Amino acid sequence: MHYAITGGAGFIGSHIAHRLLTEGHTVAVIDNLLTGQRSNLDVLAAVGGDRFAFHEVSITDADALKAAFKGAEVVYHQAALPSVPRSVADPLETHHHCATGTLTVLDVARQTGVRRVVYAGSSSAYGDQPGDFKREDMTPRPISPYGVAKLTGEMYCRVFTETYGLETVTLRYFNVFGPRQDPNSPYAAVIPLFIRAMLRGESPTLNGDGTQSRDFTYIDNVVHGNLLAASAPEASGQVMNLATGGRISLLDLVDKLNALLGTDIPPQFGPPRSGDIQHSRAAIDRARDLLDFSPIVSFDDGLARTVAWLRAGDGV
Ligand SMILES: NC(=O)c1ccc[n+]([C@@H]2O[C@H](COP(=O)([O-])OP(=O)(O)OC[C@H]3O[C@@H](n4cnc5c(N)ncnc54)[C@H](O)[C@@H]3O)[C@@H](O)[C@H]2O)c1
Repeated sequence: MHYAITGGAGFIGSHIAHRLLTEGHTVAVIDNLLTGQRSNLDVLAAVGGDRFAFHEVSITDADALKAAFKGAEVVYHQAALPSVPRSVADPLETHHHCATGTLTVLDVARQTGVRRVVYAGSSSAYGDQPGDFKREDMTPRPISPYGVAKLTGEMYCRVFTETYGLETVTLRYFNVFGPRQDPNSPYAAVIPLFIRAMLRGESPTLNGDGTQSRDFTYIDNVVHGNLLAASAPEASGQVMNLATGGRISLLDLVDKLNALLGTDIPPQFGPPRSGDIQHSRAAIDRARDLLDFSPIVSFDDGLARTVAWLRAGDGV
């Protein structure tokens, strides 16, 4: 089959592309390299050969997207500017790449005969709501411009299904981690940032008191859910969490990393960050029902694999 992947030079998109190429499919990646890495494209070119094509364009460029989506049955839409602090610093820029970008992807998909768009939604749509689990029937209350922009994308997905008959599935990711997640960006995610610091013998900085918790989801679980979402018949027009249903605090994370690294490095504490959520844990029964999804790699195994990858690389 032929697939198009927006944001395929990024962390999650490159893993989806890698899996599809490994299975013998053809893949077109669309990415403007805003946060994506050429090294990820090199990996894909090595695996895919002439079954892999790269289009260095923005998803907001409809004409370029038309060419890139040609012949694709499914689009995995991963492109976004995925950072809460960056959205607080420049909300218009985030809106452009996330909301306007998603609308453009959907509009071009419906015009080019794409059957289904699988959209990378975000747990940031929930905001800081009370209760142990984030459930899809909660009223969304994003607390950052990034959360609003990602939620806007989901709403466009549902409306495109209802209005134009384009199949869409929104998967709300919760703190994805794993190999190839960039530890060196100024907006790096917490797991690669902490591993890099601790591999250097430095204390990781916790924003706040460290009791905040996340449903950290290893990348293979997210790729697995995306592949299921491409064809699950009942999933079209739906929004669902894609996570593990677990909960790890930042203090637990530092303890687990110390155990894995054989170190005893204490964290240091910084001020809480604007737009940050205190607890984020997914109910995953909807993905279980609609996609037959369950996690395939545990948090502990995923963390060990991520440490091994960062240890082996020279990015640290
Ligand atoms: N990583 C997470 O924990 C997480 C959690 C929730 C949701 N998400 C969503 O998952 C998706 C992938 O995130 P990621 O962690 O792989 O981030 P990433 O930054 O590694 O990947 C995003 C990719 O999108 C590209 N991009 C940005 N704007 C673009 C544009 N206008 N045109 C073309 N390409 C553009 C970037 O260059 C990059 O390659 C995003 O939609 C993000 O909102 C991620």
